[in-house]
Amino acid sequence: MLHDGRIWVGTGEGGPVYLLPHMANRHGLIAGATGTGKTVSLKVLAEGFSDMGVPVFLSDIKSDLSGMVKPGAGSEAIDRRLDGCGVPKEEFLFHAYPSVFWDVYGEQGHPVRATVQDMGPLLMSRMLSLNETQSGVMNIIFRVAAREGFPLIDLQMLKDLLIMVGSNAKNYTLEYGNVSVASVGAIQRAVAVLEDQGGSVFFGEPAIDIRDWIETDPDSGKGRINILSADRLFNNPTMYSTFLLWMLTKLYDLLPEQGDAEKPKIVFFFDEAHLLFNNCSRPLMEKIEQVVRLVRSKGVGVYFITQSPADIPMTILGQLGNRIQHALRAYTPLDQKAVKTAAQTFRTNPAFDTEEAITTLKTGEALVSFLDEHGAPGVVERATILPPQSYMGAITPEDRNLVITTSPLYGIYEERAEEPAPEPEPAAPQAAPVQPAAQVPQAVPVQPAIPVQPAIPVQPAVPVIMVPPAQAAAPEQKLDDPRRFRFINGVWYYI
Ligand SMILES: Nc1ncnc2c1ncn2[C@@H]1O[C@H](COP(=O)(O)OP(=O)(O)OP(=O)(O)O)[C@@H](O)[C@H]1O
Ligand SMILES: [Mg+2]
Repeated sequence: MLHDGRIWVGTGEGGPVYLLPHMANRHGLIAGATGTGKTVSLKVLAEGFSDMGVPVFLSDIKSDLSGMVKPGAGSEAIDRRLDGCGVPKEEFLFHAYPSVFWDVYGEQGHPVRATVQDMGPLLMSRMLSLNETQSGVMNIIFRVAAREGFPLIDLQMLKDLLIMVGSNAKNYTLEYGNVSVASVGAIQRAVAVLEDQGGSVFFGEPAIDIRDWIETDPDSGKGRINILSADRLFNNPTMYSTFLLWMLTKLYDLLPEQGDAEKPKIVFFFDEAHLLFNNCSRPLMEKIEQVVRLVRSKGVGVYFITQSPADIPMTILGQLGNRIQHALRAYTPLDQKAVKTAAQTFRTNPAFDTEEAITTLKTGEALVSFLDEHGAPGVVERATILPPQSYMGAITPEDRNLVITTSPLYGIYEERAEEPAPEPEPAAPQAAPVQPAAQVPQAVPVQPAIPVQPAIPVQPAVPVIMVPPAQAAAPEQKLDDPRRFRFINGVWYYI
């Protein structure tokens, strides 16, 4: 809850512990073993940001964040906690927060879509779990697309381009470096797997406009709580973590610099953050470090949620100024090492032993250290975390449906932009003759097809685009051009 413009997160021996709004973009960490109170602490922070008009984005893996759309309910345990924290009852009001649900699969929220183009080669390679050589080919694919004006919107288009590059591997190798047919084949297989895992739903249009995340509620002035319903997405950890990283990258790419501000523009919570760093290629790791380091001057605060600080690489951990550490278990030598690491990240408090405290914290209690007004880490406090003001737990499917259908964004993203049926166009006078219908599979509309004009002379009866990339036509096609290349019976059509 807000108190004098600061987020009152918990209360320790030394009194209330506040997160300062102008230090909130210096990132943070919420860590702790399972069931120790991480999600509730996240809620308390998210509510505080929303109260001060700052929108947040969070992923909801267990559906227990969906309760933010409902007011919380009192109980004896909550009363005791409030008393223990010294919170005046009249100041603590249960209420709902203006929330919007998102879902990559469009089932439990507004669909979030991206184009393949938008994802970029680095994240696309990660999503497809490509090795270094295959990632190199993916880079080439994106360069070919940019150079030849080939739209990369959905996975079908990516597959089409892979076929084109694969069947001209020799020519593309001369221009761009080695394109092995084996790598192209491996990528095709990975794309097929991604399609089965829901990638064909995620990639497409209309793509998400991130300005829709950065909104305040016009009635209450509270920041919008964007909840990504991620229970299904989480079944594919690589897709989940790449997707969240892509969102963060989008914020980084699109938001302007804002220097030191009195509060963040948006705060992003990255749950199960250890997944981000699993099997992370060197270039991707560098990208993550860079985004995390620079995004804060764009007013974006990033809060990682994970079990142990040891899950986070030191280069990133060092950038997380605001910390909430819930209990850790210390059963095995490995656990004990993780406790030590966690303890070492805090500025010690002479009143207690940090390492010992970490293993004896109760549920909803944490070691907390936030940056002070000068940006220095505060002395660690052992604090009882406040209860949230919204409902703790999941909502019913009916309630969720009501929130979705009454949301101000309802209708903007719901319908996927299907490819319009190609308009019949009169063939250009110099166009090669259209293939007779008998030679083309029935399902594919042929009439409007206009064979691509190659840049080098070819037999007019063979409308193919088998040309070296260096001599390919100048890019003319715009991303919003509904036509696309189709490979039909060994012939490239642009329809
Ligand atoms: N600050 C708090 N106020 C009131 N109750 C709390 C608080 N923190 C934790 N609890 C209680 O403890 C339960 C578990 O907390 P929570 O779900 O936040 O744990 P978690 O660390 O996120 O667990 P997991 O790792 O399994 O996701 C909550 O459902 C709630 O009943
Ligand atoms: Mg949790």
